[in-house]
Amino acid sequence: MKKVLIDCDPGIDDALALALAAGSADHLDIVGITTVGGNVDLELTTANALALREFLAMGQVPVVPGSAGALLPRTVRAAHVHGTSGLGDVVLPEPQRGVSEGHAVDFIVETLKADPGEITLVAVGPLTNIALAVRREPRIVEWARDLVIMGGSYTRGNHNPAAEFNMLADPEAAAIVFEAGWTVRMLGLDVTLKASVTTAVLDRMRPLGRLSELLVPATQFYGMVTAEGGPAIHDACAVAYVLDPELFTCVPAVVNVETAGQYTRGMTVTDFRVAEQGANALVATSLDVPRFWDLVVGAYEKLAARLG
Ligand code: RIB
Ligand code: CA
Repeated sequence: MKKVLIDCDPGIDDALALALAAGSADHLDIVGITTVGGNVDLELTTANALALREFLAMGQVPVVPGSAGALLPRTVRAAHVHGTSGLGDVVLPEPQRGVSEGHAVDFIVETLKADPGEITLVAVGPLTNIALAVRREPRIVEWARDLVIMGGSYTRGNHNPAAEFNMLADPEAAAIVFEAGWTVRMLGLDVTLKASVTTAVLDRMRPLGRLSELLVPATQFYGMVTAEGGPAIHDACAVAYVLDPELFTCVPAVVNVETAGQYTRGMTVTDFRVAEQGANALVATSLDVPRFWDLVVGAYEKLAARLG
């Protein structure tokens, strides 16, 4: 069993990543979910995480809210992509249980401190909570088994030509995280855009009972599904990496996050011309797409069998 702590901003693809984690209960022990302002405001990402925890039958996993905004007061949101609620036009049952006490940053530090070397930190939203945790306790870079992020790109952005959304939403936080001393596993747009939901993939999600009531409309809201391509479930790649790193080819690199550029703020400037020991990141450069979907749909089928 691998232990994971998932920091997220649900968010449609965050939701599909959480569903992948929930459907992988025989491989993953989810020790906590922390939330951050990102796709939509913190109140909504947290409400969505609470609703998803119950809809996906994730049991007693703590949900702990974190940072509402970026380190600098420059807010970037993506409600135009994820809808005003953050989950498109999906309305999940009202959750019965609320958040756990405390702040996500303290939860991250204390949870990693209590179980050093055992927990993989998976961050699929802006890196504000992770950066503040590093600042509060720099030793988390040793205590975390790994840090796996969905974020960045060594080719081009999505929110603008230079920057991927999670990095652009808090470049200062991303810079702190990449400079903290750990080797960041970076699943950037270069590979996550290949995780696109085609008609054939969506058809595999349709017969999944209650779970399909989330997966299908959320995906259709997220983007146009066609035989050739469709919306990419970016964040699920980070969970898939924990489940099976062999799905990806990763290359050592030095990644620096631009924080000052007028047109390039949030860009992950990636230099592959390094030997492994000089790298601060392992950057994913390829994805085995058929095996990825077999893993994801297989987990969804297991979860659907539990949900009915
Ligand atoms: O660029 C994709 C990332 O930005 C994903 O994490 C998505 O949820 C949005 O947060
Ligand atoms: Ca996200």
